[in-house]
Amino acid sequence: MIEIQNLTKTFGTGAEAFTALSEVSVTIRQNEFFTLLGPSGCGKTTLLRTIAGFVDPTSGTMTLDGADVLASPPYVRPVNTVFQNYALFPHMTVAENIGFGLEMQDRPKAEIKQTVGEMLELVQMTPLANRATSEISGGQQQRVALARALAPRPKVLLLDEPLSALDFKLRKEMQIELKRLQSETGITFVFVTHDQEEALTMSDRIAVMNEGQILQIGGPKEIYDHPAERFVADFIGETNFLEAELVSVDGEVAETRLPSGKTISTRAASGRAGAGKVTVAVRPEHALLEPPGALIDGKLENIVYFGTDTHYHVMLDGGARFVVRRQNQPDAVEAYTIGDAVGVSFNPGVGQVLRD
Ligand SMILES: Nc1ncnc2c1ncn2[C@@H]1O[C@H](COP(=O)(O)OP(=O)(O)OP(=O)(O)O)[C@@H](O)[C@H]1O
Ligand SMILES: [Mg+2]
Repeated sequence: MIEIQNLTKTFGTGAEAFTALSEVSVTIRQNEFFTLLGPSGCGKTTLLRTIAGFVDPTSGTMTLDGADVLASPPYVRPVNTVFQNYALFPHMTVAENIGFGLEMQDRPKAEIKQTVGEMLELVQMTPLANRATSEISGGQQQRVALARALAPRPKVLLLDEPLSALDFKLRKEMQIELKRLQSETGITFVFVTHDQEEALTMSDRIAVMNEGQILQIGGPKEIYDHPAERFVADFIGETNFLEAELVSVDGEVAETRLPSGKTISTRAASGRAGAGKVTVAVRPEHALLEPPGALIDGKLENIVYFGTDTHYHVMLDGGARFVVRRQNQPDAVEAYTIGDAVGVSFNPGVGQVLRD
């Protein structure tokens, strides 16, 4: 549905020049829920606005539904956008805002009425249908902006942090509703968020961005379990980093030697080759706390109880810190005490050798 190759956007010139997007390439499939995830300022909005036609790229190519659209103005592209600063038409009511796109398309009055009714239900705004949008709250405005963009059923919907103004409970509800709507309507969603949990729960695939570049594209599980780079591993969830020695690589399987001298089989980021020092990433919940004599030994420094689970902070022999997370069971007796000599282990294939 969207094919982007080597897209670069530089704002300004000379000493003022700033490259917001650098050689971005990505293919987004039809009916896909595709998420751009990254920290503030990494270029998410710039990429979205380029797809919509509000930003002219400096170089690169893009096709939308098979057609080269870079020369086309926004209004002819088969795309609707929910902007980060969801500007509504203040002189119109909630219902009129939602029906606006359909009016522009000259759809029959009865159809407009029905679609607006459905959209009002979806975003839970039916009771405020006839209120002016200047007289509703920020979260309500955001929901109206969402409904307005969805109503004409565009081929592609671009959503720039569309749930950021909503409270936790409504946000969770809207996440599920949006995901359902997306798979039911067949609309391709390009969704921007800096919330990793939102990205993991909603997306078919995620592109993790940093400093104008896409670092990794993959399904939620792929991105979480097999981050290719330190930034990705660090940005999504919590991770332990272990310095290790690469013994051998065979495709995606790497044999690594830990500072304890023991070797373990791990996954290698694609393209990782050669020997020498590497970093192995291990998720806290994928590691086990054991008596000494495990893969790596150390001393238990802290036990932090979180209700759902407990975090064990271990100072490994050699000086690195490592966190093991264990799900709590009712009435379980804590087997360890701060200061204990302990061991940390993880199963073959669990650790991930990073690319950098
Ligand atoms: N018109 C512009 N002129 C100059 N620099 C710009 C312009 N628009 C954006 N930038 C810069 O480009 C970078 C990327 O901006 P962008 O809005 O795409 O970030 P973002 O990932 O959407 O961040 P956020 O999560 O804060 O919304 C930022 O450093 C920003 O300051
Ligand atoms: Mg933004």
